[in-house]
Formats: sequence, C-alpha cells, structure tokens
Amino acid sequence: MSHESTLPLRLGSVTVTVPDPAATGAFLHDGLGFHVTPRADGGLDATTGGEYAQPVPRRHLTLLPGEAARLREVTFDVPAGYAFGELERRAAAHGMTTEPVAADAGGGAGVAVTGPSGLRLVCRPPGAPVIEALPATPLRPRRLGHVNVKVPDAPATAAALTALLDLKLSEQIGEGLFFFRVGSEHHNMGVRGGSDVPDVHHLAFEVAGWDSYRMICDHLADLGYKVEYGPGRHGPGHNLFVYVRDPSSGLRLELYSDMAHIHDEASYTPPRWEMSDRGNTVNRWGPAPPESFLA
Ligand SMILES: [Fe+2]
Repeated sequence: MSHESTLPLRLGSVTVTVPDPAATGAFLHDGLGFHVTPRADGGLDATTGGEYAQPVPRRHLTLLPGEAARLREVTFDVPAGYAFGELERRAAAHGMTTEPVAADAGGGAGVAVTGPSGLRLVCRPPGAPVIEALPATPLRPRRLGHVNVKVPDAPATAAALTALLDLKLSEQIGEGLFFFRVGSEHHNMGVRGGSDVPDVHHLAFEVAGWDSYRMICDHLADLGYKVEYGPGRHGPGHNLFVYVRDPSSGLRLELYSDMAHIHDEASYTPPRWEMSDRGNTVNRWGPAPPESFLA
C-alpha cells in the first residue's frame, strides 16, 4: 500500500452549464467585475483577481451552454509531480472510474475521477495564467474559495473525498452536510444531499471584508440585481455571507469573507452539529434563508 499523498494544491475551478453563457457572463462581468473570456466551444471562462502576488488564473468558473444550470465537474489544481498513479489506484479500489484529461488551455494533462454519486472530479495542473493586467475595480472578488455541491448520497461522497484526495473534514451537520478543506481555510468544498444528480448549490468567492458588501450590493442594486440571502454569518466556517443569483440561470454565488482557518491540525477536532441545529448553523445572526435557498 502506497502512502503517497493525493492532496491537491487548491480548488481550481468549477465547470457548469447554463442556458445562456453570454447572459451569465454579463452578470459576472457587469455586476461583480469578473474577467470573462470567450471559449472556442461557445462557452466562457470567468476569473477573479487571483491570490496575492500570484498570476491571475485563466478560469475559476467555466460556463458551457446547456439546458439549465448544472454541475459538470470540479477541478482541483495539483502540483508538478502529483501522484496520478496513486490517484488511479485509489479510485479503482473504491469502485470509481477514471479517464485521462488531455492538456489544453484550461490546464495540464490530468485525470478525471467519477465517484459513487456521479460527481466528476478533475485533478490537473493549472493552465497558463491571464497575461494582461485586469482593470482595477473594487467589485471583483479575490478568488474562488469553495464549491458547495449537492449529491444523491452525501456520506458516500464525503467518504470518497477523504479516501481519494486526502481532503480533510472540517465540520459536519449530521449526515447531511460535510465541509472539507485542502489547506488551512475551513472549507474549499461542501457536500450536501438532496439531489438525484450531482449539482451545484453555490460557488463561493472571497471578497475583502465587511465594507465590500456595501459597495458590491449597492452596485448590484443599481443594475437591478437582488440579494437572495444575507448578509449574515454562518456557523460552520464562521464566515460572513451574501448570496446572489444570476437571473438568467439561477446560478448561486456566495460572496464570503472572514472565514476561519485551521492552523493547528493536531489539536483540531471537527465539530459535529445535528440536522436539528440547522437554524443555528446557517445563520448565527438569526434570519432564516428563503425557500429558494433550501431547494
Ligand atoms: Fe458556502
């Protein structure tokens, strides 16, 4: 049994289908300052400013044309020399299928794994960064922080993420919602049940802090876009949140800040809430989410 690590570097990007990629791209660009680039296949790549002192990634979010807002795949950036062989061995041992992913503008050669819930996870080195300097704007989020997926069987998918990618469990709510991290940030992936097929509940992008919400929400309001839920503070992760949805697709984005970090792994025990605590976990400040958020 090999003990090579298959822990990725970071959550890299998410690919979703939407009915009108241009309309969703306009919402991301005009409303939130995303950098949007057309793709040859009729889709769009969208990205934010990127990490401090790091090149701007070409894509945090890829939009492909499709009937509705649906999750296609979650991509993890992996380092040079990543243990793809070990990843394939583990996938086979857990009854998951793998296929090679060829190098292209979106990233280097890698491996796609389809897990027990049908969730497609891609591990590959990141693609070439954006060369041009992005115009300055206080609206643009910093980076993709996490993806919250809906799957048919949350405990099975949670077990697979640990067994396959060495992701670390940070917190859970019963057997219904699991939060995983790659590095110190509390979560980079959330897994919840309640969907017949793998789907996305929300994509979360980090903003600079509390003051960002006034500026961003005023700007969204000027364009006629509405906040779905928030501001508030989550229990798990302790982050501030505002949720907005692209009107053309319903794709939900979380603008978050002030998330907890776990620096001492040795002393950290993942808190476990029960599903009956859901009201306290979703918003410590009180106001409950709208029905649309719970669907
Ligand atoms: Fe979130």
